[in-house]
Amino acid sequence: MSKQFDVIVIGGGPGGYIAAIRAAQLGFNVACIDEWKNAKGGPALGGTCTNVGCIPSKALLQSSEHFEQAGHHFADHGIEVKGLSLDMPKMIGRKDTVVKQNNEGVLYLFKKNKVTFFHGRGSFVASKDGVYDIRVAGTAEEVISAKHIIVATGSNARTLPGTPFDEETILSNDGALRMVDVPKKLGLIGSGVIGLEMGSVWRRLGAEVTVLEGLPTFLGAVDQQIAKEAHKAFTKQGLKIELGVKVGEIKTSKKGVSVAYTNAKGEAQALDVDKLIISIGRVANTIGLAPETVGLKLDERGAIVVDGDCKTNLPHVWAIGDVVRGPMLAHKAEEEGVAVAERIAGQHGHVNFNTIPWVIYTSPEIAWVGQTEEQLKAAGRAYKAGTFPFLANGRARALGDTTGMVKMLADAATDEILGVHIVGPMASELIAECVVAMEFRASSEDIARICHAHPSLSEATKEAALAVDKRTLNF
Ligand code: FAD
Ligand code: NAI
Repeated sequence: MSKQFDVIVIGGGPGGYIAAIRAAQLGFNVACIDEWKNAKGGPALGGTCTNVGCIPSKALLQSSEHFEQAGHHFADHGIEVKGLSLDMPKMIGRKDTVVKQNNEGVLYLFKKNKVTFFHGRGSFVASKDGVYDIRVAGTAEEVISAKHIIVATGSNARTLPGTPFDEETILSNDGALRMVDVPKKLGLIGSGVIGLEMGSVWRRLGAEVTVLEGLPTFLGAVDQQIAKEAHKAFTKQGLKIELGVKVGEIKTSKKGVSVAYTNAKGEAQALDVDKLIISIGRVANTIGLAPETVGLKLDERGAIVVDGDCKTNLPHVWAIGDVVRGPMLAHKAEEEGVAVAERIAGQHGHVNFNTIPWVIYTSPEIAWVGQTEEQLKAAGRAYKAGTFPFLANGRARALGDTTGMVKMLADAATDEILGVHIVGPMASELIAECVVAMEFRASSEDIARICHAHPSLSEATKEAALAVDKRTLNF
């Protein structure tokens, strides 16, 4: 007789592990299956986010930013640093420790919440009388069963046809986070989120970085006033970004990689680099899940088809996170995980897609929530815009980091905030206030009337709100 659970979660990334914990909190007997292995073959819970995504990238962004500050900006503060050097194995080792702490944190949370963890690959076997059998293939093989299944199997890096990742020369996010030698020349294909974050890390550490982007517009999904400001800052830092290119043949040799491409003017070019990171998006992962055995429906891109509530075509089978439609973000996966656990319990879990914040952890950081000016124009919505530059913010001056601005967009008639876009210091933290404001359907006047601590970067948000009504106080 197979082990019986109320809920089985397949995948222990931010979507899956949070769904498992919430379901356990709601009184269900929950199992979570995850196959990720650490270097010793043991479990490494937390998925892409913890192992090769959000956490290690932010660890390296922080370390490399310290190096950049010590090398180029401490002198402005009267601090002289002599003999600055890099200990790359130590930096990568620190990143690995941060990852391990997070892996162990999830295991601890499972114990605390009495979630039964299975280390191995989970696949659908059969369904009978409304109960699903799931095979777990780990060091041993066993079948476990439950009425409710939550699939949270995440995503994998996409590559170009004929150019598989070898993680030595042609790198996905995985290899990009593991290099122990700083390449002299680094190429990236795709100037999206990974391209900019990883490009920033390795440029700060000394690589000459070139990013080849297929689209003619830089950060096309971002408010273009903000994107232009960011592009200016990255270019000034020495990040070479070529837009509107068409990538052709990619050849690897002992010397490195040669990328043939056509530039925006249609001229044939070649980029010769030591290493190449391909960051052109990610694809939903259902490898080994055996969805066909139970008739679980996938779309033409391989994502599991779900409705607005994360229900699949099968009764009591749900799917969340990167393996379904919507932005591929850890906090989106988590929100869906909580909502699904609550729906299984008969509650009304909800996810507001309009208030999911986006953050790009470069320097300056880029963060936004809600609609861009371009989206509002395209929708024919009448709006008012207010911007406030960090150059006029006392805290930013004291920090020595005055790049960028806060931009607020509000409905022309009701003044409801429709979007907030930030490029500048600590944008990742500043955006939280704006998400709260939008969740509560605040007006720009509401933000303008709230007391913000002085001196703080958040005063720039208040001033942007005042700017919507053309009455900034400090600019
Ligand atoms: P995943 O995190 O991919 O987890 C899926 C898990 O399921 C994995 O552990 C996998 O091994 C396991 N699995 C798959 N199939 C099976 C199976 N059949 N049986 C058992 N286990 C299985 N997002 C942010 O919000 N902020 C960031 O700063 C950020 N930075 C990122 C940086 C990088 C370099 C990358 C690549 C991504 C980043 N993301 C970031 C995106 C974020 O990592 C994903 O959106 C998030 O991890 C998705 O969570 P998930 O639970 O859906 O899937
Ligand atoms: P992305 O979708 O952010 O960017 C991919 C870029 O590659 C786009 O600009 C696209 O136009 C370009 N591109 C696609 N095909 C191309 C081609 N053939 N030639 C040249 N350019 C091409 O994808 P990315 O950077 O791989 O990241 C994947 C996802 O991971 C992100 O969309 C995001 O959801 C998540 N992520 C989130 C982070 C965060 O929240 N801070 C950090 C890193 C990743």
